[in-house]
Amino acid sequence: MAVRMTWPRVFTPATTFCGDREIVVSTSGRLSSKNHAMPEFLKDIKRTHDCGGLRVSDVCKRAVLFGWVASRRDHGGCVFIDLRDRGGLTQVVFEPGVSTDAHTLAGELRSEFCIGVSGVVQDRAERRNPNMPTGDVELHCDQLTIFSRSDTPPFEIVDDSTANEMVRLKYRALDLRRPSLQRNFLLRSQIYQTARRVLAGHRFLEIETPFLVKYTPGGARNFLVPSRLTPGTFYALAESPQLFKQLFMVAGFDRYFQIVRCFRDEDLRQDRQPEFTQIDIEMSFVVEEDVQAVVESLMGALWKDVLNLDIVTPFPRLSFADAMALYGSDKPDLRFGLPLCDVTEVVRKHNGGNVDMLQKAIVATGPEPAVVKAWRLPAAEASKMSNAEVDKLEEFVKGLGARGLARARIGAAGAWTRSPMKTMSEAMRQDLNAAAGLQEGDLFFLQFGAPKLVNTVLGGLRLHVANKLNLIPKDQWKFAWITEFPLLERSDDGRLVASHHPFTSPMAEDLDKLESAPAEVRARAYDLVLNGNEIAGGSIRIHRGDIQSRVFKAIGLTEEDARAKFGFLLDAFRHGPPPHGGIAAGLDRLAMLLCGADSLRDVIAFPKTQKGTDLCTEAPAAVTSKQLEELHIALTNVEP
Ligand code: AMO
Repeated sequence: MAVRMTWPRVFTPATTFCGDREIVVSTSGRLSSKNHAMPEFLKDIKRTHDCGGLRVSDVCKRAVLFGWVASRRDHGGCVFIDLRDRGGLTQVVFEPGVSTDAHTLAGELRSEFCIGVSGVVQDRAERRNPNMPTGDVELHCDQLTIFSRSDTPPFEIVDDSTANEMVRLKYRALDLRRPSLQRNFLLRSQIYQTARRVLAGHRFLEIETPFLVKYTPGGARNFLVPSRLTPGTFYALAESPQLFKQLFMVAGFDRYFQIVRCFRDEDLRQDRQPEFTQIDIEMSFVVEEDVQAVVESLMGALWKDVLNLDIVTPFPRLSFADAMALYGSDKPDLRFGLPLCDVTEVVRKHNGGNVDMLQKAIVATGPEPAVVKAWRLPAAEASKMSNAEVDKLEEFVKGLGARGLARARIGAAGAWTRSPMKTMSEAMRQDLNAAAGLQEGDLFFLQFGAPKLVNTVLGGLRLHVANKLNLIPKDQWKFAWITEFPLLERSDDGRLVASHHPFTSPMAEDLDKLESAPAEVRARAYDLVLNGNEIAGGSIRIHRGDIQSRVFKAIGLTEEDARAKFGFLLDAFRHGPPPHGGIAAGLDRLAMLLCGADSLRDVIAFPKTQKGTDLCTEAPAAVTSKQLEELHIALTNVEP
């Protein structure tokens, strides 16, 4: 027999507790519950501000902050801490009179504990700290929670840390808590946002390209990745998306960009990392100025968004030849003048002016004729350098490859004092004085030999002395396009190789020299330089098969070699390649300059050291013999 259950119609109101939860039964039988537990951080108590946000206008308001204990002090029964998060620092006060619980727990706080605080904002009145953006206020805490405790950190997390960089890189997560690095990465993030906005606004498509690519000799040295599935073969990690972006143009994408990681196994310097990021661009149906205009609009937006500065575009243009002649560098720092001066003709006219080494230099033969160049440091600046300091410059230039540094301090009536070139004829000395515009008190430096070395030495000296004497204004942004690069350059073994890459278009006016004087052919290549840094480089590409064949021939590449290396690109180019060109900007270098950082390591989250190691994760590392066996790789002569 079925039993029929019926519920009474009227209920007796009742309450019961289930933990902190109060269960209420109403007279209609409905159940409801209320939580009487203390409100919980994260769940009930939500963050209201970051630690850089509170101001006098917030006084008397309740605020909830989450962050790390940057410092802690006990004063007269109160505990004071500076609480840090990516927004900044706020002083938090724990007083027994406000909350005994919070005050007692605050006694346990130590550096780098991760905590949450809730309280009321108060005016610091006569204790205001003008050095902190939040320094007019403090939070009087009545609720505190410790999310996690911290061991004593391996170094103090402050901007003027004296900790060794190796230790900081090992504990990188802690290092990245430092306010200046937090700021660098906020700013770097802005660069990505702005780049995407600006380029999307110019109708660019963002498309990815592979990292695991075919090894093509000739460019930067590649990192190799063994293939397990095809033993004995290797991928290269892409040094840039160059060939793929040109394929995109053949594919008709018309305007491509990518914020892309590139890998180059090069010797590292302050401005070079083995993996770095480019803002990579390629465009169809363009000439140089079209590509440059896009980059100028990108730079304008970056400087506006990141630094709120208006920069003037278009940027000035300087040919490679002029840059080398005037500054001895293809990435000249144009924040100061002090150009170099070519005195080869003066020395030639006087047949070396009775100075043995100059006589020898101008008759020396080689792939390139020798030059004699000079650099003048005007008296006002020269007076700041003692003779001992000037003598020390010789050591500096030897580090750049020079054999010595011919020099003089100009005395009364143009006499040369403290000069090692005692035998110089009076006539040549006077002509050199006139050519370089020498005045009493000036310092004068001479260098002779192969143009590349002379430019490296005097260009380096110009920068070194300007830095030493503080002649470089730190608040200026001097952009310039360097144009008309040589298409080809001599490698160390004297062969002609492509200066940029073999798909760079020669300038039309130099085409007929491609066979007769290849070293003189200029390329439709351009670099963007800023304050002595190369921040972008690109070119208009070759899209005609006949010109491509001639360039391959000029660099000694047979059709078969070319096919073996770039067959896929050449095949694509047989099917209607559009005229196209592009550029890539070094995002890390841009970030370094925009942040005012000295090293790429300050704008790359997990950078590599000079030896290419990541101290945080300890890469590279050995692998097991089983892994090597799978890859059919045997190690020979490996030193630890
Ligand atoms: P390029 O080799 O000139 O051109 O590189 C473009 C820009 O990338 C930056 N850069 C680097 N930054 C940090 N560490 C490095 N090791 C490093 N190497 C280069 C520089 C440089 O200006 N495919 C061509 C571009 C093109 O033709 O479109 C290319 O990669 O700021």
